[in-house]
Amino acid sequence: MTLFNDLQMQPADPIFGIVTLFKADTRSAKMNLSVGAYQDESGVTPVLNTVKKAEKLIEERPKTKSYLPISGNAEFCREAEFLIYGHDHPAIIEKRVNTAQTIGATGALRIGGEFLKNIGVETIAISNPSWPNHKGVMTNARLNVSTYTYYDAETKGLDFEGMLRSIQELPENTAILLHTCCHNPTGLDPTPEQWQLLSATIKEHKLIPFFDCAYQGFKTNLDEDAYPIRLFAQQGHNLMVAYSFAKNMGLYGERAGVLSCVSDHADSTAIIESYLKKLIRASYSNPPIHSAEIVHTILSESTLKKEWVEEVASMRLRIHKIRDTLMSKMCSLQNGENYQFLKDQCGMFGYIGLNSDQVQHIRDEYAVYMTNNGRINVAGLNNNNINGFIHAFRSVSQPS
Ligand code: LMR
Repeated sequence: MTLFNDLQMQPADPIFGIVTLFKADTRSAKMNLSVGAYQDESGVTPVLNTVKKAEKLIEERPKTKSYLPISGNAEFCREAEFLIYGHDHPAIIEKRVNTAQTIGATGALRIGGEFLKNIGVETIAISNPSWPNHKGVMTNARLNVSTYTYYDAETKGLDFEGMLRSIQELPENTAILLHTCCHNPTGLDPTPEQWQLLSATIKEHKLIPFFDCAYQGFKTNLDEDAYPIRLFAQQGHNLMVAYSFAKNMGLYGERAGVLSCVSDHADSTAIIESYLKKLIRASYSNPPIHSAEIVHTILSESTLKKEWVEEVASMRLRIHKIRDTLMSKMCSLQNGENYQFLKDQCGMFGYIGLNSDQVQHIRDEYAVYMTNNGRINVAGLNNNNINGFIHAFRSVSQPS
């Protein structure tokens, strides 16, 4: 029997593979700046108070563990729509939105990718660089994956001209994956004016926008961070959104997400729903109960929602503060480099311009773990470990 005997070991995941290495490291002063999970000042990924309160309320309710419908908890989906588009968005009022609960945003990306393939889309373009799993998810959905220009390694900034040019070159009917805010991994986003230009260009070139929205609330605030989606939906795009509550509700392992589709015509929503149901049923049948109940409880109770908005703000502010400290400490290294670019980056990630050899060196020598592309989780830094991080960073960034 040789079925499994001739198999080759597959490469470890570029993000979770680093977490595995971190866990196996026995050095006490190790630092995990790899996976994008918020950490508080003590290095813990906390359960939000509002989540604990919601779970208490849920506990007291009569329950059943019977199946959810294929597209999940409808009230949860409705609240997610309000958060994404705003209560009074024309797409909501005109009933042009269809939303299904998914297994996190990754599940939404996968179902969305399969949906695109089913309706005749062959290729999706992702930013260069992008979250590494985008390629894997879309390839497994049987789409071809191409890239569009995003990052300028020279300036360590957004190459907006290049981005626009490469988007203009995409063939009609190509889907384009856009990071709504806090781009992963670079932390660089287009400005509102640039989003307006992108919207017009994407429309003119008949491309299909697919937003990945995993960090709403981590840049400026919940409403402003949703600007690109609301804008595109207002401008008549047929679009999709893969939405995650992992970061802004700290529900990482609960896998709370939705796939939301906006069409330019209300008649299409029921048809879109029928496609999504068919794909979900054949994939994981129906989604889990608990995650959606937590989110729905928080978003539908006005006091809890208010408290949650404050919790999101406090995570955001801590990240801003630690980013500022990091930048001023890096600027004082006096190694001839200008680290102002860290200030233009936002959200959870810092893209600090180290190559994979440098990353490996500081992992081996200092037990500082980041992804091989030089992405750090800024929230993994705190007043106790930031000097250790700078020390490690300095060892690979001295002028030659
Ligand atoms: C990350 O980029 O680290 C997070 O989005 C977690 C993940 O699933 O990769």
